[in-house]
Amino acid sequence: MAAVDLNARIPNNVGLADDPKIRRALEHWQPKYLDWWREMGPSQFAGHEVYLRTAIDVGADGWANFGYVKMPDYRWGVFLSTPGADPRVPAGDCAGSPVWREVPGEHRNALRRIIVTQADTEPASVEQQRLLGASAPSLYDMRNLFQVNVEEGRHLWAMVYLLHKYFGVDGRDEADELLERRSGNPDKPRVLATFNDPCEHWLSFFAFTMFTDRDGKFQLSALRESGFDPLARSCEFMLTEEAFHLFVGETGLERIILRSAELSMQDPNGDARGQGGIGFDTVQRAVNTWFSSCLDLFGSEISSNAANYFAAGLKGRFHERERYEDHVAQAGNYRMPVVEGDRLAVIDVPLRNAMNEVLRDDYITDCERAVKKWNSRLEALGSPLRISLPHRRFNRRQGLYAGHTFDPAGNLIDRDTFEASRDQWLLSRKDSEELKAIMQPVTEPGKVAHWIRPPAKGLGGQDLDFAYVRA
Ligand SMILES: [Fe+2]
Ligand SMILES: [Fe+2]
Repeated sequence: MAAVDLNARIPNNVGLADDPKIRRALEHWQPKYLDWWREMGPSQFAGHEVYLRTAIDVGADGWANFGYVKMPDYRWGVFLSTPGADPRVPAGDCAGSPVWREVPGEHRNALRRIIVTQADTEPASVEQQRLLGASAPSLYDMRNLFQVNVEEGRHLWAMVYLLHKYFGVDGRDEADELLERRSGNPDKPRVLATFNDPCEHWLSFFAFTMFTDRDGKFQLSALRESGFDPLARSCEFMLTEEAFHLFVGETGLERIILRSAELSMQDPNGDARGQGGIGFDTVQRAVNTWFSSCLDLFGSEISSNAANYFAAGLKGRFHERERYEDHVAQAGNYRMPVVEGDRLAVIDVPLRNAMNEVLRDDYITDCERAVKKWNSRLEALGSPLRISLPHRRFNRRQGLYAGHTFDPAGNLIDRDTFEASRDQWLLSRKDSEELKAIMQPVTEPGKVAHWIRPPAKGLGGQDLDFAYVRA
């Protein structure tokens, strides 16, 4: 692997100094990226100094370098994790054979599609979050938002490098189009539905980083098990950064949940709103809304694409190498309920065709772990309130259960009943207006908005009263 080159225009450990063709291609793309960042990156804060972490190496200490940076000056780099000694294709028909250093011709289109789909989510989330800096509950939270934003930008760089390096003219065109689509724009939307949904307030931001970035964790984990080595190593390093985004989401939601429960106990009517907080029912609706939307990101329950990707070794399962002995998965079935008329019937699906569902299971388990933790904190607080995840069939727009309506417990119900309960189950316009009214910015160092608990501790070696963002 090439040494880390930090002085290059594009910091990297992929040997760009000795690869003039790709270096020039990326240097040509860079100003377009910066134009996109100026137009669609965090609004109003381009001139502020933000206490950010910048990746300067993939080793244990290298990627956690803290210092004040103006976001447009952030050093977005291209880093692949260190290669294994004798890496082997982790899954599929050719599991155990040497990994591919180049794209196999027969998998070119599929790999390009996989990479573009992943890449598209990175700028999309920056676009979805671009206005949130102006209503941050503290400088600590504002800094975390911006950290997530610049790292999503770096993930875009990681994917764009792969497109330029391995996919020729097609890859270059795809890289340009990644800067042309816009989240929520009806004429040129982002690829996946969730990444076109509005994220207008901090409850949605924390739910997004809890549930949507967590989808990213599982997609990246599946790609980390790819036979295409540059993709696997790229995703492995992205996962290191992603862990922080998940921390922001999980702890952010927890801080709101506990504050709402506290304020509910203080209020004579048991409603946190009466004490200037966020209604606990609103928090539950945010969980329902974002969790159900993110379940769609895993694709159809029964999928020949998923089977083909697995068979070809393009993707594996979550922790494929550590958790499974049979990496071929040719035998075996997955039992799943499907809608037949007005009832559910269980069918057997060949395991490879159920790979999307296998990954979704791991995602749900991880979400359940967090909910259990929040609920144990609520119990310790003496609050009777609890958060729950809706059933995987609830409110789906993709896959087997789309086109049918279910209640949050997963029972098949008619559409009229669903629509009559929609505002009780899912975030509504009224919720958004209410939340936006509560979320007045707090920009004094050490101060935190009333509707959320202060964080447990500071970041990057600093205390809570540190000026994480300064003008
Ligand atoms: Fe990302
Ligand atoms: Fe992320």
